[in-house]
Amino acid sequence: MIFFDNVSKIYSHNSAAVRNVTLRIEPKEFVSLVGASGAGKTTLLKLLLREEDSTEGTIFLDGLDVTALTRDELHHVRRRIGTVFQDYKLLPTKTAAENVAFAMEAAGRTDAEIDEDVPQVLDLVGLADKMDNFPHQLSGGEKQRVAIARALVNRPDVLLGDEPTGNLDSVNTGEIVKLLKKINQLGTTVILATHDKQVINTLDKRVIVLDQGEIVSDNAKGTYQA
Ligand SMILES: Nc1ncnc2c1ncn2[C@@H]1O[C@H](COP(=O)(O)OP(=O)(O)OP(=O)(O)O)[C@@H](O)[C@H]1O
Ligand SMILES: [Mg+2]
Repeated sequence: MIFFDNVSKIYSHNSAAVRNVTLRIEPKEFVSLVGASGAGKTTLLKLLLREEDSTEGTIFLDGLDVTALTRDELHHVRRRIGTVFQDYKLLPTKTAAENVAFAMEAAGRTDAEIDEDVPQVLDLVGLADKMDNFPHQLSGGEKQRVAIARALVNRPDVLLGDEPTGNLDSVNTGEIVKLLKKINQLGTTVILATHDKQVINTLDKRVIVLDQGEIVSDNAKGTYQA
């Protein structure tokens, strides 16, 4: 379970990026974070990853206080959270398979595990036939699939997406949303920050709306009009 307990983040003294957020996300939930540019979506994700320190409040990941971790615990927490971003962040000199393998090497997995898991996860995202392509030989949607495969290969409990469909057309956006739903059905908690009304309104999942750092609505089957 993820629990934000009255969390605020103030970057500069005059305004809070996240303001008194109390939020509980159960294992295997699919939650979208929406709101205008600057509403605090990315900041919330960064607080959970402990890429930023909260100014106030406490954040728990399965009972572990993310705001008070030792270095070892931080390492462990980050291994449990996969991340995907709008700009994919693939290594341009590595193939799709090598990009995924690299994440496994960094996690200390063996060559045998890598040989077994990389093709499996690329198959899961529908890219079995493009494993040896370099990023420049892949479409935007395919690049995002590689990034999702890389985020999943170490079997995280939670997948965070920060505008993962932001650079994609509506067909590819629909495909990525389908894939995220499938990953969620396989048992991964998904937290998705997005502006995209199409995404929200086709998901039919919980939607949390942020406005100037505050939660202004939280609906189990949300739609998004703004
Ligand atoms: N490193 C930083 N230093 C100072 N202010 C920051 C920093 N990062 C974000 N902010 C401010 O915090 C607020 C929330 O930013 P955040 O990036 O979380 O918004 P967002 O909802 O992700 O927006 P977008 O939809 O544009 O990605 C904004 O006012 C932003 O200017
Ligand atoms: Mg953002």
